[in-house]
Amino acid sequence: MCGIVGYLGDKEAMPILLDGLKRLEYRGYDSAGMAVMGGHGLEIRRSVGKLKELESQLAKAPLRGSVGIGHTRWATHGRPTENNAHPHQVGHIAVVHNGIIENYLELKRKLIEEGHTFTSETDTEIISHLIYKYSSRGATFGEAVRLALQQVRGSYAIVVINEREPRTLIGTRKESPMILGLGNGENFLASDVPAILSHTRRMVFLEDNDIVVMSDDGIQIQDLEGNAIDRPVTNITWSPAMAEKAGYKHFMLKEIFEQPRALIDTFRHRVDPHGGEIILEEFHLNPDEVKRLKKITMVACGTSFHAALVGKFMLESLCRLPVEVDLGSEFRYRDPFVDSQTLLISISQSGETADTLAGLREAKTKGARSLAICNAVGSSIARESESVFYTHAGPEIGVASTKAFTTQLVSLYLIGLYLAKQLGYRQPDQIQQNLQALFKLPTLLQDVLDENRAIREIGQKYMKANNFLYLGRGIHYPIALEGALKLKEISYIHAEGYPAGEMKHGPIALIDEHLPVVVLATRSPVFEKMMSNIEEVIARRGRVIAVSESDNDTVREKVETTIPVPETSLELSPILLVLPLQLLAYHIADLRGTDVDQPRNLAKSVTVE
Ligand code: F6R
Repeated sequence: MCGIVGYLGDKEAMPILLDGLKRLEYRGYDSAGMAVMGGHGLEIRRSVGKLKELESQLAKAPLRGSVGIGHTRWATHGRPTENNAHPHQVGHIAVVHNGIIENYLELKRKLIEEGHTFTSETDTEIISHLIYKYSSRGATFGEAVRLALQQVRGSYAIVVINEREPRTLIGTRKESPMILGLGNGENFLASDVPAILSHTRRMVFLEDNDIVVMSDDGIQIQDLEGNAIDRPVTNITWSPAMAEKAGYKHFMLKEIFEQPRALIDTFRHRVDPHGGEIILEEFHLNPDEVKRLKKITMVACGTSFHAALVGKFMLESLCRLPVEVDLGSEFRYRDPFVDSQTLLISISQSGETADTLAGLREAKTKGARSLAICNAVGSSIARESESVFYTHAGPEIGVASTKAFTTQLVSLYLIGLYLAKQLGYRQPDQIQQNLQALFKLPTLLQDVLDENRAIREIGQKYMKANNFLYLGRGIHYPIALEGALKLKEISYIHAEGYPAGEMKHGPIALIDEHLPVVVLATRSPVFEKMMSNIEEVIARRGRVIAVSESDNDTVREKVETTIPVPETSLELSPILLVLPLQLLAYHIADLRGTDVDQPRNLAKSVTVE
């Protein structure tokens, strides 16, 4: 996830672009850059780190001109360095891009054979080269962009500036957001509404494959064949604060709703949808080294630890390797049994959690092979690991982790399938089936999100409770832990997650008519056992809220409240079941009036022990 902005008008572009980028910084802050068409042609400034670095560079060496493009980067392909910062210029063409080009390696190889020289590690530079190539061979600006788009596969929102047509900008999108802002004698392109809201409220929400050609003659929106198309103009009434959160009340809610998209970003460039192949370029163990592994150890904290617990179920069943899971703060001090035949998987959204990092270092000193699952590119844990699997969830602003968690689960699933294939436990046709189930997941997630209003009403019903109990079994037990953690950290209600079978060994004493008990009761191999646990709660007058399939009458007829979820495979079901629990926690906290995005005493990145 990155932020892009483009301007063409009669004012100085630099301050407008800078202001737009500031409002998009939530989309990425690894590096930033700007290109402005001035009296001496195209001039570019780029810098690593937050936008203020670019701002101070621009203060010393301003860019003058009234056409320009800007970018704030959340690194996906290539580390956060100046060379990898956008815009990417090739000859007279410069491009800013948000998204992921899936076939970039193949295209890069071809372009190198044709004599192109690359200066960055990014997938974006491909686009600049392709447009440059066609434009140099005589295609018009528009044709060159269209020809380039025919070559690339993946998701993108791009804005292109061309030194040979200094007063034209071309923008286009596919599966990454882009809006067009219409002003008086000036027009804008941006990833998101807040970037341009202080300049105009008249906006066009572009659709996939729309191409906007912007010049002093006005705006034309075209399809991929160059035919003009009409798109409705929307008058935006949001306040700037609402716009930053895309109209959602809190970042957490926005991030919950981003999960279908975030999941696609995690898997789409790593799987071949037809051949059932999983491509993990970032995994550096060769097949012989994989076969020599004797066990997997996972280390993480908080929500990421819960992802590791789900991962244990996934990896043990897919790879038939013993998997041990530990908290960073425990692992680092217990002189753990790891050696060169152990794969240490550390999981961390921020990649900076001190205890997880210490666990990784401890395992490395004992000779373990290491793989990190991280969201933040270039973070300490990512840098210190032998292999890194980036989740590509995009920046997570809400302190309570949501989309980072579900994308960690997808990452573990893909890693599990990949290892299972290498170890001979999964045949290509089985992997194909597993992937088909994964491809359906974003739509199923959306079905759960559609229950948002009903879940808020459930929140209203239970918001006054002082304690909650969450129960799950097997692969759903970590989801019970996660549901309880979400509720306690943002609503400050005491909540406990428990494996349902353990209830009789203690927590059953808590149950009375005041205790809401959230149960994960889908048709899993332990469904009947779960039903017995539900009976035990009801017998003690506990108030059962069950998350279960919409057609599961056995559950619905028994319990006080049900939250329906669609069916999926057992291994993928945790990804679906956690959504209603995130929403329930969110609504209860919001109804109780807590600071949902920044709960008391918590920090997004815990860099101290
Ligand atoms: C809870 C939450 C925390 C983090 C934990 C680890 O919602 O966000 O429990 O999961 O602090 O953080 P990372 O994943 O950055 O290592």
